[in-house]
Amino acid sequence: MQLVLLGPPGAGKGTQAKMIVEHFGLLHLSTGDMLRKNVAAGTPLGAQARTYMDSGQYVPDQLINAIVEATLLGPDAQRGVVFDGYPRTGNQAQTLDKLLTRLQRPITLVVALEVNLEDLVKRLSGRRVCTGCGAPYHVKTMPPLQAGVCDACGSPLEQRPDDQEDTIRTRLDVYHRQTEPLLDYYGKQRKLRRVDAGQGIERTFENLQRLLEGGQ
Ligand code: AP5
Repeated sequence: MQLVLLGPPGAGKGTQAKMIVEHFGLLHLSTGDMLRKNVAAGTPLGAQARTYMDSGQYVPDQLINAIVEATLLGPDAQRGVVFDGYPRTGNQAQTLDKLLTRLQRPITLVVALEVNLEDLVKRLSGRRVCTGCGAPYHVKTMPPLQAGVCDACGSPLEQRPDDQEDTIRTRLDVYHRQTEPLLDYYGKQRKLRRVDAGQGIERTFENLQRLLEGGQ
């Protein structure tokens, strides 16, 4: 299976991708996570990407397409992939289509996660992330047992630099202008399904699971 999760910042792409990976055994390809690892490790890619990420803008297509291609050519991608946060532009969508056609592993399904704007802002401004293992929390809806400390690995939690309210607004605007047109792109390919992701995490996953298992 080659599954693309589309949706605005805070729609739950990362949260649902992790659950899909556990359930279906796919590779989780998150370009956001890959970029953050590069930023943390101080690589040249991380240095180039950081300014774009911190201001809520997209990193240039050629940098992103290159890291995705390298991952898809690797052995881990053979078992199928859930794409989280990629593609986000027309150029990325066309590049991915060409690459997957060459690899004879075309996209199976594109799922658009839909959440209203107010909830997106609440989710992102309350999000905290573990500095050790990357586990996501939310100050209200998914707090850790001990404030500021990861339940899983005991590392401190932090707020992502791009989760400040003004940057969140920029990210939502960039999504609207650059990524929303992909709904039409995949709709024309008859690969698009829409899921109400404004419900709880478990309920959303149940709906996704039904869809992926061919139940609706
Ligand atoms: P990335 O990390 O991909 O950020 P994003 O797309 O803005 O998405 P988020 O991670 O913020 O949200 P999400 O939908 O994954 O939601 P999550 O599950 O975390 O990218 C960051 C930056 O990197 C980009 O801005 C760009 O600069 C760059 N970049 C990355 N990919 C790129 C690309 N392809 N091209 C160019 N640049 C790229 O959930 C959010 C919160 O909500 C959490 O607190 C969670 O607990 C909570 N939550 C989730 N689901 C629910 C639910 N159902 N009910 C209640 N709360 C929920």
